[in-house]
Amino acid sequence: MNPVEQSLQYFENNKERMTDAYIDVLKIPSVSTSPEHAADMQKTAEFLADYLRKISVEHVEIFKTPLHPILFAEKKSSNPDAKTLLIYGHYDVQPEDPLDEWQSAPFDPTFRGDYLYARGASDMKGQVMASIFALESALTSGDLPINVKFILEGEEEIGSPSLEPFIKEHKELLACDMILNPDAGMVAKDKPTIVYGLRGLAYFEVRVDGPRVDLHSGLWGGNVANPANVLAQIIAKLHNEDGSVAIPGFYDNVRVLSPEERERIASCNSDDEKMLEITGAPQLYGEAGYTTLERQGARPTLDVNGFYSGFIGDGAKTIIPAYAKAKISCRLVPDMDPMGIYELARDYILSIAPPTVKTKVFLHSAGPAYLADDAPGAENLANALTAIWDQPITYKREGGSIPVATVMQRELGVKSILTGFGLPDDAIHSPNEHLHYPNWLKGIQALIHFYLSFGEN
Ligand code: BES
Ligand code: MN
Repeated sequence: MNPVEQSLQYFENNKERMTDAYIDVLKIPSVSTSPEHAADMQKTAEFLADYLRKISVEHVEIFKTPLHPILFAEKKSSNPDAKTLLIYGHYDVQPEDPLDEWQSAPFDPTFRGDYLYARGASDMKGQVMASIFALESALTSGDLPINVKFILEGEEEIGSPSLEPFIKEHKELLACDMILNPDAGMVAKDKPTIVYGLRGLAYFEVRVDGPRVDLHSGLWGGNVANPANVLAQIIAKLHNEDGSVAIPGFYDNVRVLSPEERERIASCNSDDEKMLEITGAPQLYGEAGYTTLERQGARPTLDVNGFYSGFIGDGAKTIIPAYAKAKISCRLVPDMDPMGIYELARDYILSIAPPTVKTKVFLHSAGPAYLADDAPGAENLANALTAIWDQPITYKREGGSIPVATVMQRELGVKSILTGFGLPDDAIHSPNEHLHYPNWLKGIQALIHFYLSFGEN
């Protein structure tokens, strides 16, 4: 048997045990945004470190950061000329709320049919474990043709605040020839995908304060401004009728889509019916003049992610709320400057806020868009995906954000191969997140091919 066959055979013989390990890591509620889960973050990092040590990765190190630990690991090839692949992943997950929408508990991984349900199953513990199990399998064929490094962080879902300083301080440790980032996903089960663009993000919060405390709305309504009313008016002024963003200067640096790029985006094929089905929305909606795929991956947006004010329990309570808050995100495209966009939004909001309330705007996180062709190693990955799926590769511009891709390109000088085995209907960030198990198994097989594809030449 050749090394690929041997490794695939090992995987076939061990996939149940590997699935159990994957299920074990899904049980740890590593919600990065919640301070009460700090110990779970540590536990997850240690779980992954232990697993990597068990599969004979010698150099495994957990680094403390101001927030959640970063795991670094390296498995060296005995070939001194071997190229180095750096694999990025995140072991943190989004919060599980709303809990009563889940059919099985978010941290009690449950199979229903071909799907494994759990928070993080798809985004992205499934992808992290797939990268590790593929390495474990490839190693059974003997020596690897490449050096493999891992950097696994616990803060991706909150904008990776500790990662950029870490990368800047550890350039030597992270030095590499290729980067695999499997945090992106594929467009459909039968369409292996390489992502060549991601949107950036500027995430901020607006807080409007009125009276010192909630007031009786009969006694005071009509005499003090209602912060909820005011914030709703502010938010209403953030968009134009045609769905475009109304903040002055918002589009100033937006790179215009060339006819070639529009053609390339269109070649990915969008299935609007499928989108309606996934979202359950009565209609699709977006900026006029652009296709669904353009609006998803190549046009900027502004969205309220959360709105909070006053009495939100069952029943009725007659009050003027003391305050109102909204969490707002802008998805960005080249060449928008994330901090610049935040400042434009902040200044505009403050300029339209009335003097009857006190309005504050503050930043949560900001990261630029990513757009890059021909990452080193992408061809090897394309061949590996084709070997397993027997389908042509789909190249896509995605709407989500993975700010680390830009940071790595700048600091390490290497473009990332963006891919993944998650599907658009995996319900990532939503209740009942799940992973299509047969697709995940194929993904591991493809990664085995990929790791071993650097032999000979
Ligand atoms: N894996 C996603 C991003 C993604 C999903 C990219 C699907 C391409 C296709 C990632 O974990 C994520 O959700 N990122 C956040 C980033 C933010 C918190 C800085 C996002 O996009 O909201
Ligand atoms: Mn992710």
